[in-house]
Amino acid sequence: MLDFQTGMPPAYKTASIEDLKMRVQSVKEKMGDRLFIPGHHYQRDEVIQFADAAGDSLQLAQVASKQHQAEFIVFCGVHFMAETADILAGDHQKVLLPDMRAGCSMADMADISQTERGWKQLQQLFGDTILPVTYVNSTAAIKSFVGKNGGATVTSSNARKVVQWSFTQKERLFFLPDQHLGRNTAYDLGIPLENMAIWDPIQEKLEYQENLEDVKVILWKGHCSVHMNFRVEHIQKLRKEDPSINIIVHPECTREVVALSDDAGSTKYIIDVISNAEKGSKWAIGTEMNLVNRLKQSYPELEIQSLNPTMCPCLTMNRIDLPHLAWILESLEKGTIYNQIIVDRTTSFYAKEALHKMLTLK
Ligand code: 13P
Ligand code: SF4
Repeated sequence: MLDFQTGMPPAYKTASIEDLKMRVQSVKEKMGDRLFIPGHHYQRDEVIQFADAAGDSLQLAQVASKQHQAEFIVFCGVHFMAETADILAGDHQKVLLPDMRAGCSMADMADISQTERGWKQLQQLFGDTILPVTYVNSTAAIKSFVGKNGGATVTSSNARKVVQWSFTQKERLFFLPDQHLGRNTAYDLGIPLENMAIWDPIQEKLEYQENLEDVKVILWKGHCSVHMNFRVEHIQKLRKEDPSINIIVHPECTREVVALSDDAGSTKYIIDVISNAEKGSKWAIGTEMNLVNRLKQSYPELEIQSLNPTMCPCLTMNRIDLPHLAWILESLEKGTIYNQIIVDRTTSFYAKEALHKMLTLK
């Protein structure tokens, strides 16, 4: 019987890892340049080993905007990343996601009708003084909304640059959907927390107690359920046990966690810092577990641990596993396309504008 949630035949679930690895490799060899597999750094080891390009969200968007040769892009990451790849791909290219359940709980915290309703109310409060900017961790429809309204997408790697640019365009910034990346980035750029309001899309209400004139940044009330698991008490406990430990976290963590850490930055930034770290140094990392474990294996000369000792990987990133990758690839080789991600042309048009703005900002 087929897996009722994904449609994958059961034989893929029972096949041995070694067998599946050989089969994936064989499809890759047979399809050659017709196939391209991008993989996010948060993917499982069993999957990322087959990636033709591994990267963070920005690197993968850059790759997708340049990869115009392959007929099929099998995206090992989550749904919004595959949508981004489809938006940036040529008409002759098809993007496939090995498991359609690989979503992102943060992206799910903002839908387009909430966004349009919120925007209307914010326009009434602030007039035409706001520029919308969205983290790439959002639906194609929200990227399109942002593009239509003159804004841009951001990733954690270029958030500073995009937020700086946004203030050359408008007086205020509306940052979707991750309040923490928005708050941490604006704070780093010198905007005081008192000038930041929160937009609650459920209550449809602005959370702000002071004079509205003082609002510079409006943060959508969304978060990453993975990075919220790193807390101040984890930092305090580790520092107490070992004051020499270096703590580095992703800016999707709360302001309090980022402020207490030694350093914070995107996935790529964390990888770069660890790869240049002094031999024997000790690190506690506040980001996704597949990546932390990989860094631990790659740099045995360092003492690396997760900032939260009971941390799990991002469950939706983890949905892309070797059986689903093998199933999608073998089906493709036989001429059957499963799980194609298609962003309609109108949505794509404006979403591409928002993405291009980000990719071309100097
Ligand atoms: P980056 O790839 O921009 O570091 O984002 C992390 C993340 O949570 C991706 O879903
Ligand atoms: Fe979404 Fe967070 Fe998982 Fe990234 S780590 S895919 S933001 S839930």
